[in-house]
Formats: sequence, C-alpha cells, structure tokens
Amino acid sequence: MLFWYFAAALAVMLVLRKAQLRLMLSRAKYPSLAGHSRLARLLARLVPYYEYDETQFFSADDAPPELVAKRRAAFTQLAALYAQRFARGAALTREVTSAVSDLQFTARYRVPFQFSRMVRQHLAVGVFLESSAGSTVTDLDGNRLIDVSGSYGVNLFGYDFYKECIERGSARVRDLGPVLGAYHPIVADNVRRLREISGLDEVSFHMSGTEAVMQAVRLARYHTRRPYLVRFCGAYHGWWGDVQPGVGNPLSPDATYTLKDMDAASLRVLRARNDIACVLVNPVQSLHPNANAPADSGLIDSARGTRFDRAAYSAWLKKLREVCTARGIVLIFDEVFVGFRLAPRGAQEYFGVRADLVTYGKSLGGGLPVGVVCGRRELMRRYDEAHPADVCFARGTFNSHPYVMGAMHEFLTRLESEPVRALYRDLDGVWDRRASDLNTRLQSAALPVQVAHLSSIWTFNYLAPSRYNWMFQYYLRAQGLALSWVGTARLIFSLDLSDAEFAAIAERVAAAAEAMRRDGWWWSGTALTNKDIRRRVLRELLQAWWATSSIGSRNSPRSRYSGARQ
Ligand SMILES: Cc1ncc(COP(=O)(O)O)c(C=O)c1O
Repeated sequence: MLFWYFAAALAVMLVLRKAQLRLMLSRAKYPSLAGHSRLARLLARLVPYYEYDETQFFSADDAPPELVAKRRAAFTQLAALYAQRFARGAALTREVTSAVSDLQFTARYRVPFQFSRMVRQHLAVGVFLESSAGSTVTDLDGNRLIDVSGSYGVNLFGYDFYKECIERGSARVRDLGPVLGAYHPIVADNVRRLREISGLDEVSFHMSGTEAVMQAVRLARYHTRRPYLVRFCGAYHGWWGDVQPGVGNPLSPDATYTLKDMDAASLRVLRARNDIACVLVNPVQSLHPNANAPADSGLIDSARGTRFDRAAYSAWLKKLREVCTARGIVLIFDEVFVGFRLAPRGAQEYFGVRADLVTYGKSLGGGLPVGVVCGRRELMRRYDEAHPADVCFARGTFNSHPYVMGAMHEFLTRLESEPVRALYRDLDGVWDRRASDLNTRLQSAALPVQVAHLSSIWTFNYLAPSRYNWMFQYYLRAQGLALSWVGTARLIFSLDLSDAEFAAIAERVAAAAEAMRRDGWWWSGTALTNKDIRRRVLRELLQAWWATSSIGSRNSPRSRYSGARQ
C-alpha cells in the first residue's frame, strides 16, 4: 500500500515538474511570430498573394488626389532615370532571372509584396557589376556607385585589400595548387593566429559560415549528450534547418528552442532544463533583439525600431555565461558576421565575455569563402577515447583549400599590421560621430528618417507612419549608392572609409531623403498611425484570403506542384 502511495506521489511530482518546465518554456517565448516558429510557418502558408493596381499603388494611405498625382509623376520620372542609367545591367538581369532562382527570390522581396510587381517592372535593379575599386563598384552601364552593401559584411577593409589578399595568398600557395586533403604549410600559421585571436585551443576549417555553425552545434550535442540547441528569437545563424525553425524552412526541427533574447525567463529555462546542449549567440542581435534581421520587404509601416545598447548586451552575455557554466551548457558565439568588425579579437573582446566555441567566416577568408570553428580542446575532439566507435563526424571536400588558406593568411597577417590596427582605434567613436552627425543633419531638415547602428553596421529607422518607406532605397540608388537586396535595412561600411568618403555618402543620403519628401512619399497628413496601417493591411489580407480560399472562390489555387514533368 505504502509503495503505491509513493509511486502515485512520485508520478504526480513528475507530471507537475514537466508541466512547470513546459510553462517556463512558454514564458521564455517572445510574443511575436518570430518567437513562435510553427505558428509563423502556418500563418505564412495562409497569407494570400494580392497586389495593388496602379491607382492603389500610389494611394495605399488614402492620400489626397494632388499628392497621388505628384507621386505618380515622380515615379514615372524615377523609372525613366533607372531605364536610362541602368539599361544594360537591367537587360542582362532580365535575361538570366528566369533561370536563376536566387535572382527571382531577391527581386521579389525587395519591397512589400503588394507593391512588388510595379516596382520590378519600372525600377529594375541590375545585379551585374563590372569592377570594384576602393569603396566603389562600377556596373555594366559604367555607373560608379559607392558601395554600402559591404558584400554581406565581408568587406571590412575595402575591396582592394581583399583583391590583394587573394592575389598574394594565391601566389603563396601556387606551387601546391588545388591539392585537397593535405595541408599547405601556411595552415600552421593560420591555426596559430586563430588560436591567439579566439583565445581557444583548437581550430577546424569549413566552407561557409553555415557549415561552421552546423559543426559547432554538432560538437556541443556530441559532448553534452543532450539534444537541444537554444537560439534567440530573430537570430540568423545561416540557413541550416536546425537554426532556422520558422518561415523559410519547410520542416520543424525537433531539437531547437527559440527563446527570448535578453530576458530572465530564458535564463530560467537554461537553469531548469537538462536537455540543452548549447546556446547560440549572434551578437548582431544586440542591434535588434528578438527581431529578425530587417529587410525592406517588411516595411509595411514605420515600426522598425532598432537601437543598440552595448552595456545592456554585455551584461546579458555575462549572465548567459554564468548560467551556461553552471549548467554545463556550451556557449557558442556565432561571429560569422561580426567577427573582426567590432574589434580585432571579435565579439568576445568587444563585449568582454568568453565563449566555449566561436564560429567565424565572411571576412576571415580574405575574400574567399570560409567557415571556421575555434573551441576548447575537450569540445573540439571528434572521438571518445573510451569508446572508439563513437565519433562525431565532420568532413568537407574543400575544407582547408590551399587558396582559401593563402588568402586567409594574408588577411590574418594584415590584421596585425599597424595600418589595420589603426582602424580599430576609437572605432566606435568614429562610427558614433558619423551616425550622430548624419542624424542631426536629417533631424534639422525635419526629415522623418534616422540611422541606428552597431559600430559600422547601420540601419534606417523611420519616424513617421508611412506605407512608402521602402521607396527610399530607390532614391538612395538614384543617388549612386549600391545597396544590398535588403535595401535600407542593412548598410555595412568598410572600416577604412575616409571622412571625405563618408561625407559623400551622408550628402547622398540627405539628398535622397529630401527627394523622398519632395515627391510626397512621406505624407502623413491625416493622423495615420502604424496601427492604422497594420489594420488596413490585415483587412486587405483577409479579403484576399476570402477571395482565393476554397470557401470564397470556386477555383482555389492550393496545390503548387503537380509532381510530374510535362
Ligand atoms: C551570424 C551568421 N552566422 C552564419 C551565417 C552563414 O554564413 P554563410 O552565409 O557563409 O553560410 C551568417 C551569414 O550571414 C551569419 O550572419
């Protein structure tokens, strides 16, 4: 009898504990769709396509007729400028786009989808470039543009720097050439330097940042014998399925927790659970905690609110470090994006917190593709001495490719050089001043746009509710700035940009903003709020859904792929 009493009590306790853990997990979810991956994917499948016709395109905010006419005239003029200035680039882009899926994707998602078709038709952006020099790139039409795309963050020291890294690095390894499997001796020096930079014991080479993250997580799972990885809401860690549980990945990974960034509820989960192998941190999230990397396709209204607080983020990382240490959870800094951009020894140095594993990529390859994991010895080991059949497998045909190692060697050597070291002196001071000067200038001209930044990584925030902020990227391009496909969401500068070069950029930004306002895109005459805008778009979505759903329409386009080749 007593036995059954204890068994029942134990069962009740276990159920209660499970419920408590579950509740803790729910509390640590950020209350946005980015925090609820499955729901986000489900809703994404329900969002119907619809688009604005020519009239709605210019009056999506119910602007008065004279303003609509003004916008229409400005759009026609801008379209004429694009057609003339980017003719060759746009023509070649049109020619190949139907055969390049990546181009189809990026072309569609430069602006909110309701506006996309008109924009694609009239403001075609060419993707081809002929050359680069210093901070500029030249397109097929001979336009010399100032590059603010930063090549996805790779460009830290100017394109000529990387050309030299590739050239000199290639010369160093030429005798060996593309022999794989064996190492060029230059690798030994790269390893030495990477250990010094990371402050960690061992190094492994991969082909991309995504692969480096995959390997870091795999090692953490192998050594802790626990399945779950924790990522923070909104954080990008490459496109591997386990780190991308929401929209974009057709499957739900079964061993990923997405928790609130910078929140005590997440620390409680880490403290309480026994199934967590590692926590992945992408320090660029300090600029927009709990939000996805911004893109202009998401500029439905002006709600983008980016702000960086170094002290708060450093304090958060310290707390994370403490919990991970106490619970035997592997703390991984994914420095693929920010590594070397914030400080010569990366985010660990910048935020003053040490990780167990660190991933690097992008700039480290000296202009060539790479991914690197650095880590503590006991975590990097790929076998278990006591159980020889139990290994943690990782290979990759092109890992440690001699040419990549050569370019990396140049990069790492130059990183130590005086001219490069000088760029890091007062780095934040330089970029804070530049951002602040530009913001003052925009503010004193009463323009409803400001920049927010994490050192040399910038984003535009919009101050007045508007449906047309995404147009700003086209005015910036017209001013001769080369942006990436996410538009005004990410401007990435190279650290060697001179004050004069930056002044030219600021000049163009201000001119583009003046033109935006002059042409009537930033009208908020009536008391339009971001909430009004979102409500209106929601209404439109519901109407479109009703029209295309099997209830509202007789020919519902539900199946996307018929399967058979015709
Ligand atoms: C933080 C972070 N991790 C991983 C990746 C993936 O790197 P790659 O594009 O080289 O696969 C990226 C790419 O932007 C990144 O920013």
